[in-house]
Amino acid sequence: MIAAGINFPNRIPESYPRLVREPAFDPSKHLALERPDRLITLEEFGYDEATRARCPSQIAITSAFRILTDEGVAALREVGEQFRRQEQKTEGNPRAAYVKPRGSAYSSKFARDLSRSPDLLAFVSEIAGAPLAPHTMPTLGASFVYAPPQAEKTNQGWHMDSLGFDCVIMVSGPDDGNGGGFQYFQGTLQEVARICGVAEHEIRTSVGKLGNLPADRIHTMTYRKAGYGAFMQGNMVLHRGEPLRRPAARSVFVPGFIALALDYPDVTNWREVRNWNSPSVKAEYLRHKAWRAASFLQDLIETQPFDDREGYRARLQQAAQEIEEAVAELGAQSRAAAAAE
Ligand SMILES: [Fe+2]
Repeated sequence: MIAAGINFPNRIPESYPRLVREPAFDPSKHLALERPDRLITLEEFGYDEATRARCPSQIAITSAFRILTDEGVAALREVGEQFRRQEQKTEGNPRAAYVKPRGSAYSSKFARDLSRSPDLLAFVSEIAGAPLAPHTMPTLGASFVYAPPQAEKTNQGWHMDSLGFDCVIMVSGPDDGNGGGFQYFQGTLQEVARICGVAEHEIRTSVGKLGNLPADRIHTMTYRKAGYGAFMQGNMVLHRGEPLRRPAARSVFVPGFIALALDYPDVTNWREVRNWNSPSVKAEYLRHKAWRAASFLQDLIETQPFDDREGYRARLQQAAQEIEEAVAELGAQSRAAAAAE
């Protein structure tokens, strides 16, 4: 079942600062989408058939490919620098290696338009072999990530992403000899858990805890220049920015996407994301759940045959489960707010 995506929220919350002067995104000037040479599959990562069947795409990660023109890089840098100077709240984890201000999709029209560009979406959907949309949660839909000023702090970032699909686009230029490439471990979540001695559910919330991975299975991707990137099923691929050897102004921009095929588990890692310091993220999650529920009901209304009682039951139960989860989350939020008073 393929759902329709949802619009960006009509009103931008006041809690996010806005960039006042920024370039206008123009796909004809800023995008230079060139198909990657290699698509590495989940099977090549070692995922078994049952796991692969629960994923909407069979692609784990691509080789590096060009995404932006030089003009696009210049525009994104201008936006990224302005956004960084806003000094918004960052991800709360003090062990987090990289600085990740939240909400660039709210603060920057350029970041919003680039990450929601129909050209980019058609391109990544084709690579994934599955229809993708801008992520339903704007906080997950567009992120700038900056290296911290201390080079030693960049050596702790192995993680899996809290969403299904993303592109990691280099905003800064390659700094040869200083590390700073993009690294991934070619293996499964279960292997990572076993090697590192952590529970599977801890991997995506394990910033700073993972180490001692077999070096021969770590791939380091070096980008030819700024504006190149990689696309991945980020919740299935353990990755990090390669540690820097000396301080450098390294930054990446990460548009996030969601699969529109909903007959798969919701991989949004709410256990992690609910702790982020993005003021609207809790409302975004409720809206995301409402989208899933409405999509199941919409499918029932539009496509289920009248004589398929089990089909009706399945869709109603799927919708009810999404709503139950959203209501439970709302209850937890209310209790947390009451306890804080
Ligand atoms: Fe990541």
